[in-house]
Parts: sequence; structure tokens; C-alpha cells
Amino acid sequence: MADSRLSSRALVQLLGEWRDSAPAYRGLADAVRMLCLDRRIAPGTALPAERDLAARLELSRTTVAAAYRDLRESGHIASLRGSGSVVRAVGPIADVPEPGDEDTIDLHRASPAAWPGLSALFVEAASDAARWVGRSGYDLVGAVKLRTAIADRYTARGLPTDPDQIIVTTGAQSAISLVTDVIVRRGDRVAIETPTYPHAADALREADARLVAIPVDAEYGWDLERADHVLRRAAPSLAYLMPDFQNPTGATMSEHTRRTFAESAADAGAIVLADETTADLNIDRPFESLPFGFGFGLDPAVQRSIVTIGSLGKTVWGGLRIGWIRADLDLVPRLIAARPRRELGTPELEQQVAILAFERLPEILLQRAQLLREGRDTLVRALSERLPEWTVPTAHGGVSLWVGLGAPVSSPLALAVRSRGLILSSGPRFGVDGGHERHLRVPFTAPPAELTRAVEILAEAWPEARDRGRPVTETVLAAVV
Ligand SMILES: Cc1ncc(COP(=O)(O)O)c(C=O)c1O
Repeated sequence: MADSRLSSRALVQLLGEWRDSAPAYRGLADAVRMLCLDRRIAPGTALPAERDLAARLELSRTTVAAAYRDLRESGHIASLRGSGSVVRAVGPIADVPEPGDEDTIDLHRASPAAWPGLSALFVEAASDAARWVGRSGYDLVGAVKLRTAIADRYTARGLPTDPDQIIVTTGAQSAISLVTDVIVRRGDRVAIETPTYPHAADALREADARLVAIPVDAEYGWDLERADHVLRRAAPSLAYLMPDFQNPTGATMSEHTRRTFAESAADAGAIVLADETTADLNIDRPFESLPFGFGFGLDPAVQRSIVTIGSLGKTVWGGLRIGWIRADLDLVPRLIAARPRRELGTPELEQQVAILAFERLPEILLQRAQLLREGRDTLVRALSERLPEWTVPTAHGGVSLWVGLGAPVSSPLALAVRSRGLILSSGPRFGVDGGHERHLRVPFTAPPAELTRAVEILAEAWPEARDRGRPVTETVLAAVV
């Protein structure tokens, strides 16, 4: 049996701009394939009946049947009696590598390798285990020493913070889910950037929030007019924002933008969830990074409506699974009370390692800046040499470049490079309401040699993908003259 069923309406919305110059059945099959590979359609989901989808797309049923046949042949869907066509968990997808395969360059995650000194911190923390294994280990709030280190850092950077305002979580993702659990009620509207960090959008969708998009551009930043409209008219309960080195665009909010968001959200009765997971990944930003909420005249009402989250996931290592929430003292007990139904706390060893990492943070951030600089510079250089028609934004930090392709072909391109051993998420994976087919997120967190090879693969695959984005007539004419 299928786990859930996708309506033809929902699938058409997910498909976005899928029509290109390839035969319709092939374009449709490729677009669905990309949705499966990006996990925007979960394994076990039944696709709509051929007839319903054909009617909604105004295509013949034969075309949709041919697309489904193509997907069955490539192993992405299977026919299940009583359920129709169901997305497979893992397909024997002959020519399509999966993350983790040898010889595959995996850029679907944008996370740097562990800080080189990390294993020594694990040894140091473990050697002291006799001291901390005597505790219950069910730590819903976080070790006092770690919460103090986190709070002191906010305070030192201009945002006075009490350790009791901090909850240590298993990464920023669990912080997002916990805040969502407490703040967002079923059917609430939530303001969110587009493009955005997809797992945050997924967590909010899971809570049955209605997402209202605020566009962010890699060069021009946030659309404040739209933001004002969304916050006033949609009356969201939460606004999820990434103020620094926004993932995926790399954009950073000016002080004016921060203040506008904070004040408009407070006026609208919304909580701002400021995700600062990427905030410390500075390479060469011309101004100092300050925590969201700093310098707002410390208006108590505005301050109360800001919840900030952070993580050591990108600065130290994704596998450390240490993140945190900074919230108003009134909100903290509600967050702690909501936690046990989800998980019973943050592991002790990792917290001890995090305490040691905080002591070395300046050194760690320097190493990160160097590593990211190498990656970014290599990527920018390779892209300008091999793919000069693409628009490459300026990125002063963060994890990725949000590259403009100039044509709505991100999904065909991501598919074409996948069959050549390069895994990238297509632009629409970062969208809230579809779109972003004209963009591709290229992380610069991988080693330079991998990034150079990745650009070679992109350049090899580009002509095929670009031609699929051309209007049909243009392609036909190009073929005959
Ligand atoms: C913006 C953003 N928020 C949250 C997360 C999740 O972080 P963690 O690994 O700490 O759960 C990520 C990881 O990629 C991220 O980029």
C-alpha cells in the first residue's frame, strides 16, 4: 500500500515550469524524477492517476502513460496493486549515482569537513568521562557550562543574554522543529524566505503551516515591500529568516533590513525565528557580524518576539549535532516542556566536546574562513572560465553560490550532471511556492579539486540542459539552419 497519495493539483504545483523542448513525456518524466531524487516527493507516495494528471496538465493520457512508463523503467516508480504508481524508496537506478557512491561528487549537502582539531577534543572529553557519566544523561536544557559559553558569546557580541535563555538542542534542525511545535498551530501562516533552507520549510509544512513567501535575491537581498505586505496582511505566527549568509543565496541583511523585519513582525504579533546557523561563516564581509536583535534600541516588546537559533554544525562539524535556541525567559519553559515528546535531550559527550570547541572558537572560525575562501575562490574562478554566461553572485561567506542560469533548466541540468557522477539539488528544492528553475545552488564547502571537477561536469552537461530550455521553435530552427 502507498503511504500517501499526491493529488494531481499538488503534483502540478510541485512540477512548476517543467515544459521544455524535450518531447512532453520525457520532460514530464524528468521533472517527476527530479522531484523524487530531491525527496520533494517522499518514497511510498502514490502519484495521481494518469487520467487525472493528463486532464490537469491538458495533455493526452498517452503522454502521461508514456511518462509513467519511463519512470517505471528507470526504477523511480513501481506499480502497486490497489495504489497505482508509487514512488520507490531506492531504485536500482542503473546510471544514476546515489549520495555516498564512490567516484561521486556529492554537493547536495553544503557542509564543510570537520574542523581538523575535532578528534582531539573528543579524546579530551572522553578522558574526563568519569566526571559526567554519573549524571542522568536526560538533559532537556543543556549543560550549564555550555549554555554559559553560548550566552556569554551573545553578550560579548552586544546582545545581553542570560544562560537561562539558552536551550541546547541536537543541532539547529531540532531547534527549528521544537520552536515550530510550540509556536505554530495547524493552519497558521508562516512567513518564509524563498529560496530557503528546505528542511526548515519541510518542518513547517509537517506542522500544517501555510507558507507565505518573501523573495530573497543573491545580489539585492530581501524584498522588503513584499515582507511588509506579508507580515501585515497574512498575520503569520512565525517568520523564519536567515539574516546572515542566507542559505542558499548567501545574502546578508543590512541593519535596516533586520530592524524592519524585527519591528514589523513584533507589530504583527509574529515571532521572528532567526536562524544563525551560517552566521559565523564569514570570509571577507566588509562589516562585522552582529547577532539578530542587537541594536534595536532593546525595545523589550521587539526583543521578546525574537527567537534565535545557532549550531556548531557548519563551524565545527555536522556530525557533532549541537545547536541551541536563544529565547525570551517566558518562552523557555514552554520549549522545554514540549521537548520530551520529540526527544529526551542532548547527548553528554557531544556537549562536553562543544564546551571545548567554544574555548577554541576564534581559532576554529579562522580555519573555516580559510577553507571557505579557498572553496569560494576556486568555484568562482572555475565558473567564470567554463560557464561565463552564468550569473555568479558575490558571496562574502556562507556555504554556497546561488548561480543564475539564465534559463529555466535547473532540474534538467541537475539530472544531466547526476548521470555523470555529480549530485546537486535543483533550484526548485529551495523554493516555497515552486519556481527557482533559473537557479542552481553550488556549495563551495567541498575540497577545491572536487569543485573544479564539478564545474567541468556542469560545463559538459550544460549544452544539453540549455537546449532543453529553449522555446521549441528556436530549437527546431537551430536544427534546420
Ligand atoms: C540554515 C540552516 N539551518 C539549519 C541547519 C541544520 O543544522 P544542524 O546540522 O545543526 O541541524 C542547516 C544545515 O544545513 C542550515 O543550513
